[in-house]
Amino acid sequence: MPFDPSEYGRHIPADVYDDAFAYLDPGAAVERLVALAEGGPVCEFGIGTGRLALPLLRHGLTVAGVEGSPEMAARLRDKPDGERIEVAVGDFTGTRVAGEFSLVLLAVNTIFALPDQAAQVACFRNAAAHLRPGGRFVVEAWVPDPGAFRAGTSLRPVLVAQDAVLLEAAELHPAEQRMTTTKVRLSNDGVRLLPANHRYAWPAELDLMAELAGMTREHRWADWTGAAFTDDSRNHVTVYRRPESA
Ligand SMILES: C[S@@+](CC[C@H](N)C(=O)[O-])C[C@H]1O[C@@H](n2cnc3c(N)ncnc32)[C@H](O)[C@@H]1O
Repeated sequence: MPFDPSEYGRHIPADVYDDAFAYLDPGAAVERLVALAEGGPVCEFGIGTGRLALPLLRHGLTVAGVEGSPEMAARLRDKPDGERIEVAVGDFTGTRVAGEFSLVLLAVNTIFALPDQAAQVACFRNAAAHLRPGGRFVVEAWVPDPGAFRAGTSLRPVLVAQDAVLLEAAELHPAEQRMTTTKVRLSNDGVRLLPANHRYAWPAELDLMAELAGMTREHRWADWTGAAFTDDSRNHVTVYRRPESA
């Protein structure tokens, strides 16, 4: 079955996304991204409802995006300042936004939303095509952790708060580097299931994709604060750079 970039938004409605992922504090990410953009325009792939894009805009940056879900794009447009962000509805493996950008952003593991390696390589190439010489492609993703699975499945708490609990049930398919997850949000309003598919990759494979797209790694941190990436890191924020001259 062909890949459908609107699938994520059909499984996780835009208003539910904003509630369920409100625990993701954009503060450190925004501060880091503002520094990396050096005042230039930003294009966010999988811009969603603007969790990062709107604060970046309010820091004085020009922001555009590509989004596969028309519903997510509509919710962003309806928010204050949302109409100031140009969003192309399409697949970020090939959809082109006009202009040259200082920074292309792909946050919250969204590189893994693509179905296979070929699509991920296409995404890196599309990111490079949006960058001015010297521009940066920033990827935030988790580090695969097959050891956390027993008999191919895992269950982990993502958030434990007084008014809501978010659990993630996952199934691993190592032969294809795929992981299917359903996040379960429990609150006094009821239970909500949030399914998502991932084609995961280790950081080194992402580095190779960047090389194929003509970019090199500038930084790898464990998080947006710039903490050192170590043996124990479960997430990474990686900055790739297009050469100043071809
Ligand atoms: C995890 S959400 C992240 C949203 C936003 N970047 C944030 O930080 O909150 C992933 C977003 O990427 C979009 N998406 C997933 N695959 C896509 C694709 N191939 N092309 C364009 N958008 C895609 C989804 O619709 C969703 O809005």
